[in-house]
Amino acid sequence: MTQSFYSARAAITAIGSYVPERVISNSDLEAMVDTNHEWIVQRTGIVERRAAAEHEFTSDLCFGAVRDMLTRYPVTIEDVDYIIVATTTPDTITPAVASRVQAEFNIASSGAVDLQAACAGFVAALQMASGLLASGICRKILVIGAETLTKVTDYTDRTTCILFGDGAGAVLVEADQSDSFLASYSHTEGKLGHNVYSSHLSNHIGGIPVDRKGKLVQNGREVYKWAVTRVTAGVEKLLEQQNLTTQDINWFIPHSANLRIIEAICERTGISMDQTLYSMVYYGNTSAATIPLALDLGIKTGKVQQDQLLLLYGFGGGLTQAALLLKWTLAS
Ligand code: UT7
Repeated sequence: MTQSFYSARAAITAIGSYVPERVISNSDLEAMVDTNHEWIVQRTGIVERRAAAEHEFTSDLCFGAVRDMLTRYPVTIEDVDYIIVATTTPDTITPAVASRVQAEFNIASSGAVDLQAACAGFVAALQMASGLLASGICRKILVIGAETLTKVTDYTDRTTCILFGDGAGAVLVEADQSDSFLASYSHTEGKLGHNVYSSHLSNHIGGIPVDRKGKLVQNGREVYKWAVTRVTAGVEKLLEQQNLTTQDINWFIPHSANLRIIEAICERTGISMDQTLYSMVYYGNTSAATIPLALDLGIKTGKVQQDQLLLLYGFGGGLTQAALLLKWTLAS
């Protein structure tokens, strides 16, 4: 589904990010499973990833990202009227991580929900936020993508444990005179959902048996092929419907699952790797957090500038895709 926003009148007015201190390097993983640094870098682009401490959970990473945002931008959040946290690794099923954020920052009166769309979660949360702002229901929304994936990673499985890391990114989205949210694309293939899962209660997905309760399991090769073909098709559809070409996009910010997936999508769509921002090299695959982490790296390095056109593209578990075309309005 592609959707243009004709009256979103909303913009991102602040951003912050946080990663835990502990580093898991590729050589640390060599001591745990039969793998090696060269294989990991060549097949995934990942050099290291961060891991939350035993006492540190997704809500703590959210607090870190929000605090970072508040120290960098002159914004207030006590008057936020909605909080959306995109995560597949909430501290608890209930209360929502968003409720903990509301309590931590003494936000007086707001809605607070967690949104679970795996690696598409942050962009899906931004889509929801822009809808709430466009309808006039809300004026100021805190959107966070945060994960502690290392807590659900199976460190005996070399095909997954090399990939995942922990981190968080937060943005404030406010009703504004600018038109920042230009177009949106969503697409889900639920029948393929069994290819990436973390099962807590059920032992099947649509009749297909699943195992390793509480751990993240994936059929990497299938997800890889799906991502390359489907994201390529989605990028082309979104740009075509907006009468844009890849040349019009200043920064493509896809989910950082694997550098080779991004290179394959860029090759097929004609987007240059020089126009692409990603976060997996030092943070690994942080699911809902990869896109805000990459965006914030782009801001901190001076690459992302006011008035540029950004294409944020989340994809993964579901199997779900969520994309947004944004005009970046925040001054650097
Ligand atoms: O974010 C959610 C969505 N997830 C994704 O988008 C992930 C998509 N998939 C991937 O990123 C890749 O499929 C992986 C990184 C998971 C795997 O890379 P691959 O190039 O698809 O490898 P493969 O599964 O085809 O395995 C190639 C070989 C196999 O050995 P044989 O059968 O050729 O002898 C594997 O057993 O590499 C072996 N292998 C490893 N070797 C060293 C698998 N994992 C490892 C490892 N170290 N960690």
